[in-house]
Amino acid sequence: MLCSVLLAVTASTLAAAHIVITYPGWRGDNLITNETWPYGMQWMYPCGGTTLTTNRTYWPTTGGAIAFQPGWFQGHNTAFLYVNLGVGTDGPDGGPGNMSNPMVSPFQLLGPSNGPYPGTVCLPQVPVPANMHFNAGDNATIQVVEIAQHGAALFSCVDITFADPGDSRIAKVNESNCFNSTDLGFAEIYTITTTPIGAAANMTTSGASPSSPLLSLSRLGGWFGYLPLLAGGALLLI
Ligand SMILES: *[C@@H]1O[C@H](CO)[C@@H](O)[C@H](O)[C@H]1NC(C)=O
Ligand SMILES: *[C@@H]1O[C@H](CO)[C@@H](O)[C@H](O)[C@H]1NC(C)=O
Ligand SMILES: *[C@@H]1O[C@H](CO)[C@@H](O)[C@H](O)[C@H]1NC(C)=O
Ligand SMILES: *[C@@H]1O[C@H](CO)[C@@H](O)[C@H](O)[C@H]1NC(C)=O
Ligand SMILES: *[C@@H]1O[C@H](CO)[C@@H](O)[C@H](O)[C@H]1NC(C)=O
Ligand SMILES: *[C@@H]1O[C@H](CO)[C@@H](O)[C@H](O)[C@H]1NC(C)=O
Ligand SMILES: *[C@@H]1O[C@H](CO)[C@@H](O)[C@H](O)[C@H]1NC(C)=O
Repeated sequence: MLCSVLLAVTASTLAAAHIVITYPGWRGDNLITNETWPYGMQWMYPCGGTTLTTNRTYWPTTGGAIAFQPGWFQGHNTAFLYVNLGVGTDGPDGGPGNMSNPMVSPFQLLGPSNGPYPGTVCLPQVPVPANMHFNAGDNATIQVVEIAQHGAALFSCVDITFADPGDSRIAKVNESNCFNSTDLGFAEIYTITTTPIGAAANMTTSGASPSSPLLSLSRLGGWFGYLPLLAGGALLLI
């Protein structure tokens, strides 16, 4: 299984490729741009144009490894990465109806360049989502999302069946199928609240009536004039 994944990657041209889940596998090759997917399959929520598969791969009920190659296309000098789980059968393809259960905190990937690069990311012990519990034999789908620098998202999925830890059907994790390439770095993602909910609605421009925000905007020459005021408002709130 892993060999066929690696072969598929090798066979793909760099220009056509995006993100490949190397462990525990993937639904199939969605590194495709053709008439059906003129912008490329992988941009399509939730699984990059692929539908539910039946050749599921086994993954531990206690969580396990996930490895992927994030740099098979240009534009990923930095990227945000998310790993989610979908459960249930109420989706249009008979699979999960959503992928709304985060498995890890989103993190930033620091790539070696903005061109395509071949590195691998290995998360050796991804837990099942908080407050969820699975038994051997349960089905689910793991989704990896990569947010490119311009904000659009690439999707790839793998359909799994949970198995007890140590089950021989779970592919062994080792340094050849799960490793971090030396040319990749990582960063944590923080947000800082600059304008609490409600505060933006109360901002006024000097001399303008709070009840006529459009008037005050036009006086300032539109949004370009407004933006520095937002920054000023944030400073006042500190
Ligand atoms: C399932 O089958 C597809 C099509 O043959 C293949 O590309 C994919 O790698 C397989 N997935 C797993 C997890 O074996
Ligand atoms: C494009 O590729 C997808 C995936 O292999 C395939 O299902 C579809 O039929 C292709 N479309 C065309 C027009 O070849
Ligand atoms: C899990 O999916 C497989 C097909 O991929 C199906 O045969 C099996 O019945 C499903 N198991 C459960 C518990 O729904
Ligand atoms: C996601 O799917 C699960 C399983 O079907 C369902 O229980 C949950 O309500 C859904 N969540 C959202 C936000 O739709
Ligand atoms: C790869 O790097 C990530 C992020 O720093 C880390 O969580 C993970 O444990 C590393 N993988 C291995 C196999 O060391
Ligand atoms: C790593 O594990 C895979 C099975 O997941 C196996 O095919 C491969 O030979 C192992 N590699 C090493 C170096 O042990
Ligand atoms: C915004 O104005 C309303 C009405 O005057 C007031 O009740 C509210 O506390 C203000 N909110 C903030 C964040 O200042």
